[in-house]
Amino acid sequence: MGETGRIIDFLRKSVLFRNLPESDLRKISLKFEFMDLPMGEVLFYEKDTSSDMYLILEGKVRASLFDEHGNELVLAELGPGEFLGEMSMIDQLPRSATVIAEEPTKLASLSRDAFLKILRENPDISVNVIKALVARLRRTDYMVEALAFRNVESRIVKFLLEVGRERGVTENGKFKVRKMTHRDLASRVGSSREAVTKALKALNFKGVIEDSGNFWLVSPNAEEEIDP
Ligand code: CMP
Repeated sequence: MGETGRIIDFLRKSVLFRNLPESDLRKISLKFEFMDLPMGEVLFYEKDTSSDMYLILEGKVRASLFDEHGNELVLAELGPGEFLGEMSMIDQLPRSATVIAEEPTKLASLSRDAFLKILRENPDISVNVIKALVARLRRTDYMVEALAFRNVESRIVKFLLEVGRERGVTENGKFKVRKMTHRDLASRVGSSREAVTKALKALNFKGVIEDSGNFWLVSPNAEEEIDP
């Protein structure tokens, strides 16, 4: 399969362009520009003024907010087949978040004009955009709920259980989750490094989270154990 064939195949499986006829996918594939984003590199910063939209071909990025002390809140991690940059593309306001490559990442970019033209010609894509935005809103609501109603200990347990369930690796009936720095964990649960260090100590003391070398062991019932 040539480069164009690979892109068409990719578009066919992507969130936005799935279910389009081959001839439309071929036309759309010609509009993209391709770029590599090395791990750790910033694609753009929050408040930047640009309006291109990107499709992730390979790798992973995160969309984050930072406070004035450099504390990070990860809003979302996005991987192959997902898109980003649609918010500024749609409303032409500054970027809502900073986007950073978590892995070496390959992106395909589309200018605002090119994407709007594609939308006009293929109304089904607009429905896919709306569906994807609704899914992101649901996910964000879920995160707001945790920030509003749970304390840091409970947010850590919830996050580690999500990671544990996703990876599915267990030891003695407990989820085995690779340790991360307290700062990275704080950026996932919307807290400070100091608060996370304190909460992890408490969770360890209560036996809810156990240390096992480079891993944390988390009981599948951890949520009930801290929040009976
Ligand atoms: P844009 O505002 O153009 O630039 C930052 C991008 O991060 C944004 O478009 C979205 O693609 C992405 N983004 C921002 N907030 C969220 C969120 N809550 N969930 C998923 N992606 C987001």
